[in-house]
Amino acid sequence: MKLLESVKIGNRSLQNSMAMAPMTRSRANKDGVVGASTVLYYTQRASAGLIISEAINISEQAIGSPFTPGIHTQAQIDAWKVVTQSVHDGGGTIYAQLWHTGRVGHSLVKNGQLPVAPSALAIEGQQHFTMEGMKDYETPIPLNIAEIEQIIQDYKQAAINAMDAGFDGVELHAAFGYLPDQFLAESSNQRTDQYGGSPENRNRFVLDIMQEVVTAIGENKAAIRLSPTSTYNNISHQHPVAQFSMLMEHLNQLPLAYVHIMKVPFPVEKFPQYPTDAVETFGRLSVHPVMANCGYDREKGEAELQKGIAKIISYGTLFLANPDLPKRFELNGALNQPDRATMYGGKDQGYIDYPFLNN
Ligand SMILES: Cc1cc2nc3c(=O)[nH]c(=O)nc-3n(C[C@H](O)[C@H](O)[C@H](O)COP(=O)(O)O)c2cc1C
Repeated sequence: MKLLESVKIGNRSLQNSMAMAPMTRSRANKDGVVGASTVLYYTQRASAGLIISEAINISEQAIGSPFTPGIHTQAQIDAWKVVTQSVHDGGGTIYAQLWHTGRVGHSLVKNGQLPVAPSALAIEGQQHFTMEGMKDYETPIPLNIAEIEQIIQDYKQAAINAMDAGFDGVELHAAFGYLPDQFLAESSNQRTDQYGGSPENRNRFVLDIMQEVVTAIGENKAAIRLSPTSTYNNISHQHPVAQFSMLMEHLNQLPLAYVHIMKVPFPVEKFPQYPTDAVETFGRLSVHPVMANCGYDREKGEAELQKGIAKIISYGTLFLANPDLPKRFELNGALNQPDRATMYGGKDQGYIDYPFLNN
C-alpha cells in the first residue's frame, strides 16, 4: 500500500506517506506557550510520516484567536523544544505551520488592536470567536509597505525560531483566508501598489515570504499550504487557474520541501471558474512533492497516490481521533470518531484520550 511506503520529503525519508494535517486545538496558555498535554498529543501521533503542527502565531500582531500558540518569545520556543524532542524520540518528523491571521481576528483577542490586512475590507456574513462570545468582524487596517516588510521579517524570524525549537521544517499557512491568502485574492486585496492589482502583484507577498524563509533556513525545509478553491473567510478569485498556475511556476524556482494543496469543496454554481480538482490542476504543475488534503480516507488516499500527482496525503480529523492512524490503515482497523465539541479549546478530554488500537 503506497500510503504505508516511505517517501522522501525535503532532506528526510519519512516512515510512511501519511501526514497529520495542521490543526488548531487552542490549548496553549494565555501567553501562547504549549504545555505537557501538547507534548503528549503530538508524541502520540509520532507514527505519522510527517506531523504538521497546529498553526503557530509568528508575532503578537499575528494572533487572531485565544489560546493559540506562538513562536516569537523565548518561553514559546523553549516549550516547542520539548514537543519536537519528544516527537523525534518517537521516530517522527514535525514541521511548524507559520500563521498570521490578518483580518481573521478581533480586537478583543488582540489587546485592543484592530486586525491588519491588505485592504480595509471586513469579512461579512461570518462571526469570530472571542472570549466574549461570537462577534462581527471589524474593518481591518490596511498595511503600508513598511509594515508589510516587517511582517515578512516576522515570518523569517519565526522560521528561524522554529528551526531553533527543533522543527524539521516550516509550512507557510497560505490557505483558508489567513493573511497570505488575503493577499492572493481579489476579494480581500484591492491594493494598487506592488502587492495588488494583478495576479503577479497579488502573489508577491507569498513569494517574498517563501524567498526570505528559504534564505534563512536553507533548502528543502520550507513548504507552503494553499487552498485555491476555498471560499471560507470571504475569499474569492476571479481567475484562480491563472493566478495559482503562475504561483506554482514561481514556487518551482525555490528549493521547497513540498507543496500542500487542499481540495476544498465549493459551490460549483456560484464559482464556475474554479477547478473541480485543485490537486490535479495545480499539483500537476509542481516540481516539488505534492501533499494532498481534504476528505481523504484510506481508500481515497491510496487512490490519490496511485494516480501519481500527490506523493503524500494529509489527514486532519482522522489523525485527531486516531493517534495510531498508520497502524489502523495497515490492519484496516476500526476508526475512532472525532468529537467536534472538544476540537477547539478545553482540557485533555478529546485531546490526549483517544484510544489506541487494543487499548
Ligand atoms: C480542529 C481543526 C483545526 C484546524 N486547524 C487548522 C490549522 O491550524 N491550519 C490549517 O491549515 N488547517 C487547519 N484545519 C484544516 C485541516 O488541516 C484539514 O485541512 C481539514 O481537517 C480537512 O482534512 P480532513 O478531511 O482530513 O479532516 C483544521 C481542521 C480542524 C478539524
